Amino acid sequence: MTDPEDKAVGGHQAGAERPRNAPLKGKDGVRLPARYRVNPVTRNPNSSAGEVFLVGAGPGDPELLTLKAWRILQSADVVLYDRLVSQPILDMIPDQVEMVHVGKQRSDHSVPQAEINRRLVDLAKAGRRVVRLKGGDPFIFGRGGEEIETLAEAGVRFQVVPGITAASGCAAYAGIPLTHRDHAQSVRFVTGHLKNDSCDLPWNDFVQNNQTLVFYMGLVGLPVIVRELVAHGMSADMPVALVSRGTTPEQEVVSGSLRTIVDEVQRRDVPAPTLIIIGEVVKLRHRLDWMAAVQGGDSAAD
Ligand SMILES: C[S@@+](CC[C@H](N)C(=O)[O-])C[C@H]1O[C@@H](n2cnc3c(N)ncnc32)[C@H](O)[C@@H]1O
Repeated sequence: MTDPEDKAVGGHQAGAERPRNAPLKGKDGVRLPARYRVNPVTRNPNSSAGEVFLVGAGPGDPELLTLKAWRILQSADVVLYDRLVSQPILDMIPDQVEMVHVGKQRSDHSVPQAEINRRLVDLAKAGRRVVRLKGGDPFIFGRGGEEIETLAEAGVRFQVVPGITAASGCAAYAGIPLTHRDHAQSVRFVTGHLKNDSCDLPWNDFVQNNQTLVFYMGLVGLPVIVRELVAHGMSADMPVALVSRGTTPEQEVVSGSLRTIVDEVQRRDVPAPTLIIIGEVVKLRHRLDWMAAVQGGDSAAD
């Protein structure tokens, strides 16, 4: 039976045939249904005030950029972007758009957060149409909330465009469903950026059965994460996958268990960014690694 929540957004019934002449695409590119064309992203002719668009760029594959993000980027005056935004996405931005790289690397905050916030306000107040472009989704470990708080306080108009977060992108491209009725009824996104080796996280909650843990920024803290999970009762045989440079042509997946993953990652010396997925769902990768099939190679499952 279909869950009433499963109705397609926008009213088109899942599984139903698309209505004839539905204006979803055309020779001239992408056309949207009329009510989506009442366009919130065109310039307001009655106002000289600028605006900021907080936009998620997704995890790397340029085709995972949303149509809305792409459309906004085409008409930006200036784009402030992070290190994690992939080069093919930057290459899609028209040449006349001013590009400002604002960081950040784990240990190298090229432009401090307060300075980024101030620049966004100043640029918008100068009447510019500003895109703040971030890797993944701006509201998932992206400081997007902090940036728009500053804008709200300064009275600057803003809009938010979500992106595909690394957890969704990496899990999908690694063939690991984050939830599964037989293995995981919930999923947690956790920061693995442990301040001063601190273990100040709710480890007891993490070791519950039937959930998937996804650690962002966890490469450096991996030994601590493994140690704490086992110390709090998780089986050392729990499957783990570490996805490096997920969704890009350089994607690598290192898999093992809590017992083996630290040595395996050290041995392979995998480059950042990496995402760590812990849970029974990781076992499914052996059967679901569609990417290896698409690339025509042997299964990349380890
Ligand atoms: C500061 S967080 C930003 C997360 C981002 N806002 C998102 O929604 O994906 C950076 C972390 O995201 C993860 N990450 C982002 N892109 C990734 C990718 N392509 N492959 C693996 N991990 C990625 C890594 O854990 C990285 O340390």
